[in-house]
Formats: sequence, C-alpha cells, structure tokens
Amino acid sequence: MKILGIESSCDETAAAVVEDGRVVLSNIVASQVEEHRLYGGVVPEIASRRHSEAITGVVREALEKAEVTINDIDAIAVTYAPGLIGALLVGVNFAKGLSLSSGLPLVPVHHLRSHIASNYITNESLEPPFLCMVVSGGHTHIINVESYTKYDIIGKTRDDAAGEAFDKAARSMGMPYPGGIMLDKEAEKGNDTAFKLPTPSVDGAPLDFSFSGLKTAVINIISNNKQKGIEINKADLSASYRKAVVDYLVKNLMLAAEKTGQKKIVIAGGVSANSLLRKRLEEECKKRKLQFFCPELKYCGDNAAMVASQGYYEFLAGNRASLDLNACAQRSIDIG
Ligand code: KG4
Ligand code: ZN
Repeated sequence: MKILGIESSCDETAAAVVEDGRVVLSNIVASQVEEHRLYGGVVPEIASRRHSEAITGVVREALEKAEVTINDIDAIAVTYAPGLIGALLVGVNFAKGLSLSSGLPLVPVHHLRSHIASNYITNESLEPPFLCMVVSGGHTHIINVESYTKYDIIGKTRDDAAGEAFDKAARSMGMPYPGGIMLDKEAEKGNDTAFKLPTPSVDGAPLDFSFSGLKTAVINIISNNKQKGIEINKADLSASYRKAVVDYLVKNLMLAAEKTGQKKIVIAGGVSANSLLRKRLEEECKKRKLQFFCPELKYCGDNAAMVASQGYYEFLAGNRASLDLNACAQRSIDIG
C-alpha cells in the first residue's frame, strides 16, 4: 500500500511516498531555514507564504522520484496538528484538494506521532510497545507507545522544549538559528567540565523536565564574563551545556525505563540528531541490557516520509478525515 505524506507544520515543506509504512520511495524536503535565519527564528507569516509557493512542486517531485502517479497512491496522509496554524493549513488544504480531486482517502497525522514513526523507517523490526522520548524544537515528552496509535505521556517539559533550550543557549552565544546543530558541533571541540551548571529537576515529578534554570545559568555566565571583559570560550560552554542537557534527558529516560519495565528505548524529533545524546543512550542502554533505537539522521528533523509511515498505521486503524478537516496549533498526542 502506497501512501503520499504531506508535511508543513513549521519551516519545511515536505512530501514523500512510502510503501507499507516502512519503505521510502521518495522523500522531498524544501527547507526555508535560510530565510528565517535572518530573523533569528521562524516567522509564521513567511513560513505560510513559502509553503504555499513550494507545495505543488514538492508534491509533484515526490511522485516523480517515486516513479508513480497519483493513480498509484492508496491514501493521502497529512500533518494537521500541532504546529504553526497558518503553515499547517497550507498542507491540510492542499491534501484536501488532492483527496477531493483524486477520490483518495485522507488520513490525519499528528506531528509527534510521525516523529516517532521515523523509527519504523530506520529500524525494520521495531514494533510497539516501547518507550519513546520525543525531543523536538517544540516538545519534550516521555511516552509509553502502547500500539501504533495509542500513547501514554508519562513525562513532559514544564517550560522550554529540549530543542528550544539548545537554540536559546546557542543564540546567546551568537550562533545563527537554529543553533542546536551548531552548538552540537562546537561542543565536540570543547571541555565539558569547564563550566559548572545546575542539575535541574522538577519537584514531585521525576519524569518531567524544566530547562529554564539551565538556560538562565548560561545567559548569566555569558553576561558576567562580558562585564569582566573576558571572552567566553564557546566550545567549552557548548560542551558543558550539551552535557548538562543530555545528562538530564538520559537520567529521566532511564528512570522511565526502570519505572515502566520497558526494554525497548526509542528517541525521536530534531534533537534525536544530537551526537552526544545518541552516544550516551547507546552506552546506557547497553549497560542495562535494553534495546536502543534512533532514527537515521535524515529522518530526525521534519520530513514527510515519517508522515506517510504513521499515515499507514493510522489508515490500518481506520482513522480517516473528511473534507472538513481543520488544522490545530495545539493537540496532545494521546488524542490523535
Ligand atoms: O523536530 P524538529 O525538526 O522540529 C520540530 O518539530 O520542532 O526539531 C528542530 C529542533 C531545533 O530546535 C534544532 O535546533 C534541534 O531540533 N536540533 C538539534 C540538533 N539538530 C537539530 N539539537 C541539538 N543537537 C542537534 N544535533
Ligand atoms: Zn518536528
């Protein structure tokens, strides 16, 4: 069964064709990041406009690369929540139009569900149940994935998402948006014990996260040094900060594994590309005799292959949208 996936929740216009949820026939991503970089973050108005301009070409290219026409497609899956409302609407409206003209069923896909599904593409044998930490620019959740379409959130952030925490720290060090990936690279050259940073925790909720204290600590270090006329060593600060964030993520995820008894540990979302996070989890899981899964780097960030993959499982579960499907800026993963 071939599914056409469409994604436009943030600043990537993407379309892909995936067979039976696992085999990627094409995966086209048109990124707007260069343009948003000028403003230090995603400008929603610009994002919507660029999606409108790009979407027809991106979908056409996805069909061409997969060497199929719309007649070979069995269903259209589209990200409808959560995300930037104007951006989501472009994908949703395009998918509705295509569904109406082709007669193909329309399948609504939750963005975080699709991030988790990026692991089905990379890891052929992975099947629920498993424990997944979704770490993206907008979300940080620890989730018991009970089936392909049933989720139980057991931990989440109280303030910033992990990606946001990386981006904000990177920005305060003068790195361009989105700074997470650059901070990761810079950290490779630094000493991770050079700066002392707080060990965060949320009172009474050991699986929840709060990144605001860490972020403030970095901003204070930068401004204190600036006042003293001392040039900060960016590599050392990046390494110390990356270690603090990753230690925190790993600690809570390992605690969640202990509490739930899950033996399969999975990560997903943009921050799952972080090199230290991947390395540390591999080591920790090996020590504890847990199986560790992460998406291939090209499927960590926003893409439509993951939408088509999750769309397949939503389709099998009988989930369909009618032509009154609306986009939602906020919606919990467990609702669907
Ligand atoms: O999942 P994603 O592409 O978009 C959302 O759904 O939010 O995640 C984007 C986030 C950004 O904050 C970006 O800085 C972060 O993922 N990111 C990283 C790395 N690569 C991307 N953060 C840390 N280390 C990386 N290597
Ligand atoms: Zn995302």
